[in-house]
Amino acid sequence: MKVVRTIQELRDQLRGQLRIAFVPTMGNLHDAHLALMAMAHKHGDPVVASIFVNRLQFGPNEDFDRYPRTLEEDIAKLQAQNKVYVLFAPDEREMYPEPQEFRVAPPSELGDILEGEFRPGFFVGVTTVVLKLFACVQPRVAVFGKKDYQQLMIVRNMCRQFALPTEILPHETVRDVDGLALSSRNRYLNAEERREAPRLFRVLTAVRERVRAGNHNLSGLEADAIAELTGAGWKVDYVSVRRQRDLKVPTAAEVEAGEPLVVLAAAKLGTTRLIDNLEI
Ligand code: PAF
Repeated sequence: MKVVRTIQELRDQLRGQLRIAFVPTMGNLHDAHLALMAMAHKHGDPVVASIFVNRLQFGPNEDFDRYPRTLEEDIAKLQAQNKVYVLFAPDEREMYPEPQEFRVAPPSELGDILEGEFRPGFFVGVTTVVLKLFACVQPRVAVFGKKDYQQLMIVRNMCRQFALPTEILPHETVRDVDGLALSSRNRYLNAEERREAPRLFRVLTAVRERVRAGNHNLSGLEADAIAELTGAGWKVDYVSVRRQRDLKVPTAAEVEAGEPLVVLAAAKLGTTRLIDNLEI
């Protein structure tokens, strides 16, 4: 695997490649990232990964400074897995040599709800860096995990509306044996919080099972889920059942008619904010 730090070196390495499969990350790689690399490896050649902690997508009171940066370990994991051909690991001056004044704004109805409501500016930061990374790598396909369900949808819609030649491939959420979705932020959890954390998945599973069993009182189900999490010490941002296709709130008639749904949640355990979702 070649590790390149500049856009110029990256372009030199990739010149003429037409089947690039790309996995953008912020590093601190875990098994879910490696699963994305393996999927990329099945869908293209060469596989390019990036590691860049993107300041633009962090709010002023968020964890940009303490976000885990573990480049040496990440490189070792990718080398051991042997699926990635080029790792692009630019520093901030390389990605943002001047203030990034051009930004990509997702439509408010998709970018300002759920995660966007609680993390203002987050999706503008994501789409801006993803577009820029795509311009650097020029991938034919790119793999995104479904844990970041709204991010995946926004990136997909961005590619469609800008006619980008990159196909977005979703990867199922990878979970620990107790159900906790793998995330770099899990490493902020202390031992007690780590034992508590899978409750988020259990609560979402309960919502899904109750909807499947015919309970279509979605606001009641959401309220029960929030009450259970709050009772166990979580600070809940949202638990919300939405339409899969556009993340809008479904009408009662749509739920009755079997509209594909997804239940999404974000909540804080101590100082750690976790998100998860399940398709119904
Ligand atoms: O999902 C992430 O890790 C980030 O949002 C991404 C897509 C790498 C953009 O910084």
